[in-house]
Amino acid sequence: RGADYGTGETGTGKTVVIDFSHPNIARPFGIHHLRSTVIGNALRKIHRALGYQVVGVNHLGDWGSQFAKLILAWTRWGDGELTEAVTVHELLDLYVRIHEEIEDNHDAEREAADWFRRLEAGDPEARRMWEVCCKVSYKEFERVYERLGIGFESVAGESFYQDKMPDTLIRMEEKGLLQKSEGATIVDLSEWDMIPMLVRRSDEATLYATRDVSAAEYRWETYRFEKMLYVVDVAQTLHFRQLFKVLELMDYEWADRCEHVVFGRLRFKKGGMSTRRGKVIFLEDVLDRAVDLTRQIIDDKNPDLPNKEDVARDVGIGAIIFADLDSRRARDIVFDWDEILNFNGETGPYVQYTHARYRSVLRKYGKPVPPPDPDLSLLTEPETVAVVKRLAQFPEQIQSAADAGEPSLIASYLIDLCNEANRFYNAHRVVSEDEDLTRVRIALVYAITVVLANGLGLLGMKAPEEM
Ligand code: ARG
Repeated sequence: RGADYGTGETGTGKTVVIDFSHPNIARPFGIHHLRSTVIGNALRKIHRALGYQVVGVNHLGDWGSQFAKLILAWTRWGDGELTEAVTVHELLDLYVRIHEEIEDNHDAEREAADWFRRLEAGDPEARRMWEVCCKVSYKEFERVYERLGIGFESVAGESFYQDKMPDTLIRMEEKGLLQKSEGATIVDLSEWDMIPMLVRRSDEATLYATRDVSAAEYRWETYRFEKMLYVVDVAQTLHFRQLFKVLELMDYEWADRCEHVVFGRLRFKKGGMSTRRGKVIFLEDVLDRAVDLTRQIIDDKNPDLPNKEDVARDVGIGAIIFADLDSRRARDIVFDWDEILNFNGETGPYVQYTHARYRSVLRKYGKPVPPPDPDLSLLTEPETVAVVKRLAQFPEQIQSAADAGEPSLIASYLIDLCNEANRFYNAHRVVSEDEDLTRVRIALVYAITVVLANGLGLLGMKAPEEM
């Protein structure tokens, strides 16, 4: 079945909504959003392989009081009119500066709140400045998405729900869920041992949680999903427990189709990329670094490789993706450059390298692959049968990965396959005098390359022909 091998139909006629990546506007794309992006994208591909209609949503952080702060900062320190000439880094500096200011200046805090009121009321000047921030940031995000080879079916950030929140609040009111507390509006969740969900502040400003209730309603109305996955880090566990409980209290029978796909923290072990408090690591710097280090390895080991730049990119970025996906997502992970780029370790480069190596065996064989009518009964040795069995498990692995929302099942499957394939390859000559045996072994090698390439594709990685 070639490129189709592993795909199934269990998702046919069903829709899955995957809320992932969701970086915050006016901030650079930080490393903390990498995990959501990579895990979400893999889940998107895995579900698609099973026939699901997949709606990958980028729930951008593009609404909230932080924009009012930014606008205030610009009115104080910005140079002339805010235009798209501003960079994300400048915006970040302004943001940090206004935060410090607000901390010990209540007037500034009031002014910021005032700007947010204007923004929520649709004041043209506030809206214009907000739009500039969004455009400038999104352009930067797109560059990152392109490098990672990632797309979305829907980019509907928090601001998309502005006009939907009033009705959401009315529905909550009708269900008798809303209470006043010190001027703010809350949903009391003490019965379930949770702090209240804050849905409107005393100054009428809406909140992240309110937007999430509206977003869930909107997505149900629009997509009628079989399941909705929120790929968000473990720090927001409480938020999602509150959200799902509130949806249940609103009597939405689909509330239990929502799932928080938790993941742990990511940090770097050594070699730069560590961060001082309050400083973000820029994802683009991490990607550049991975590609640079890979280029050095190629220069060292295989300087005559054609398409060196492309391979350095595919392998460098693949290493980052794989390192993010190869352990259970709930675990914290530590990035160690030496480890994740090790071509012999349990890494992305190792899987890609194994694939490239067998592709080269097939090229050297020189005849069309797969060879016609191989005699499969000749695959008898234990290490060979082990490979065959592993290949046969691929479709089940995709199903389990989708059911558990766990791309790591594919990653560890690929490592097992590589190890077993190499055991087979080291024990037997693929091309020999015996023509029948050669043909069936070539068929096996071919099958290995197909599964490796398909599996890498599910994780969002490329499978270079040569490395
Ligand atoms: N932008 C948010 C953050 O960076 C994550 C959004 C997650 N998705 C959601 N529907 N709440 O923390």
